[in-house]
Amino acid sequence: YRPLRVAVLGAGSVGAQVADQLLTHRDELAARIGAGLELIGVAVRDLDAPRDTAIPRELLTTDAETLIVGADIVVELMGGLEPARTLILQALASGADVVTANKALLATHGPELFEAAAQVGAQLYYEAAVGGAIPIIRPLRDSLAGDRVQRILGIVNGTTNFILDRMDSHGESMEEALATATALGYAEADPTADVGGYDAAQKAAILASLAFHTLVPAEAVHREGITDITLEQVVAARKAGYVVKLLAICELLDDPVTGKPGVLARVHPALVPLAHPLAAVHGANNAIFVEAEAAGPLMFYGAGAGGIQTASAVLGDVVSAARRHVVGGPGVAESTHADLPVLPISAATTRY
Ligand code: NDP
Ligand code: HSE
Repeated sequence: YRPLRVAVLGAGSVGAQVADQLLTHRDELAARIGAGLELIGVAVRDLDAPRDTAIPRELLTTDAETLIVGADIVVELMGGLEPARTLILQALASGADVVTANKALLATHGPELFEAAAQVGAQLYYEAAVGGAIPIIRPLRDSLAGDRVQRILGIVNGTTNFILDRMDSHGESMEEALATATALGYAEADPTADVGGYDAAQKAAILASLAFHTLVPAEAVHREGITDITLEQVVAARKAGYVVKLLAICELLDDPVTGKPGVLARVHPALVPLAHPLAAVHGANNAIFVEAEAAGPLMFYGAGAGGIQTASAVLGDVVSAARRHVVGGPGVAESTHADLPVLPISAATTRY
């Protein structure tokens, strides 16, 4: 099968890692897909900016619009609403599948983008938009599609969890901890999105829309950030047996006035008892509890932010998109191309 042409828009914390993995794991990915992935270019603003990974200079371009022409898969990792929205619409209109991690864009223009994809039979993938490396979009959209989700509760912003954790465990100020989170690539380009709770509210909107099969706009999510939380409050909370966490809660409730069911989505700091599993979510990790009628409680946990971690979810989407193009390829994870030997019990380690 002919190689599939992949254009990456953005080479920041996430994009640089995605480009690197597309180049480094080229052969393995090709075997899983049944076709090669050809990285045709990486769009950036500044050709000379330092990068987290070594991207060949000839692949870099400042002309994103031209880059996407003729791409089979466009991976949008620029962030922000524009030009990301216009470029994605152009990519979809040309028939390309699109992968994005841009929750701000999805929470604001999701319906327009999904409609544009549907019109041309293209797909828009966004596993990395919520929970970084954690698989949560596919479980909600596919695995739980036959169940009835009742509540989602979780920590969905890595930066604020990192900050609150550093305040709690190191006695750091919010400013110090935010500077570290930014240096580690966790924070948004404008970290107000993190500390103000906007990023978590956008993620809550995406999760609630998927879980309850209804459109929940980000503006409809009640939002309080962590900017008013002080070190003194964090210390006092611990003394009383609690940790402060920024929670996102989405639930199906009966409206007390009309008696009819509706969705309530909210993001705000909360006192979590030390014995609760969410209290043990440290650093930039995220944890998402999903309560479904038949399945009962389910928990999803892992790295909620970070370039290489998020690249895992993005690459998974790229492989899914690529497999759609390949007739007669390995298709799904049942592919056994690696042909590894099965080891005897004597090879076991005690590392758990
Ligand atoms: P960064 O700010 O680190 O990188 C953005 C990249 O996009 C940069 O390379 C920048 O170019 C490029 N870019 C921005 N605007 C333009 C433009 N107009 N034309 C061309 N290139 C442009 O962002 P992240 O990698 O952190 O995030 C990317 C996306 O992934 C965002 O939507 C974010 O919300 C999402 N995300 C991020 C996670 C994380 O942990 N960082 C986790 C999950 C999702 P240049 O370098 O030249 O300035
Ligand atoms: N800024 C986001 C966070 C990135 O800290 O969670 C992951 O979506």
